[in-house]
Amino acid sequence: MIVAIDGPAGSGKSTVSRLLSARLGAVYLDSGAMYRTLALACMEEKVDTENEDAVLALFKSIDIDQKIVEGGQVVLLNGRDVSEAIRTLEITAAVPPIAAMPRIREQMRVCQRAFGEKAGDGMLVAEGRDMTTIVFADADVKFYLDASPMVRAQRRHNELKQKGVEVGIEELAREIERRDNSDIRREVGALKIAEDSVVIDTTGLGIDQVVDRLYEEVQSRRGR
Ligand code: DC
Repeated sequence: MIVAIDGPAGSGKSTVSRLLSARLGAVYLDSGAMYRTLALACMEEKVDTENEDAVLALFKSIDIDQKIVEGGQVVLLNGRDVSEAIRTLEITAAVPPIAAMPRIREQMRVCQRAFGEKAGDGMLVAEGRDMTTIVFADADVKFYLDASPMVRAQRRHNELKQKGVEVGIEELAREIERRDNSDIRREVGALKIAEDSVVIDTTGLGIDQVVDRLYEEVQSRRGR
């Protein structure tokens, strides 16, 4: 069974998806982490992130993997733990041009579907921007999570603060707006709501409430 979850930055998607997959005993795919890892590889290898041929050649030469371990998620670049390195503001800013490249998205789709095969007959929870519309357009259950821009900026602020990084809410709100623009406007793999998605506004909801809501929906579809 495939559960696909999309939504904008700060919608609570990643946290909720991780908790949901743990509760379901599912394989978890954080597709954003793959884009982030490719951006990190470009920076490390000094590959021009505007040059699609060069980015694609690099992508095909590296190995990106991820797994859930006790205490969190581990993202690997050629076997090296880059879980922290891909979460910096610098990487966040470097991803959008890469995520807008059609051949990169095509190759990502192939890799993401291959990763999904790990679930076998079990469950997969895949989250990102185009999981419900393209990569797992045939998913059994689809969700679109959203929240008001201010709440999303506040959540990002809290997240960074926990890591000891102090960034003003206004700056984060601007960063989120920039990311929304590039996510929504790009020509391929744009963020949109799939027709058959269950849309959940997480603005006034706590994480557990959202996870419960998704879990119940998945369970009810399982019984069908
Ligand atoms: O979810 P996130 O913030 O970790 O995503 C990082 C970046 O990757 C963000 O700019 C959107 C992009 N992304 C994408 O284009 N398609 C996906 N399926 C997931 C993320």
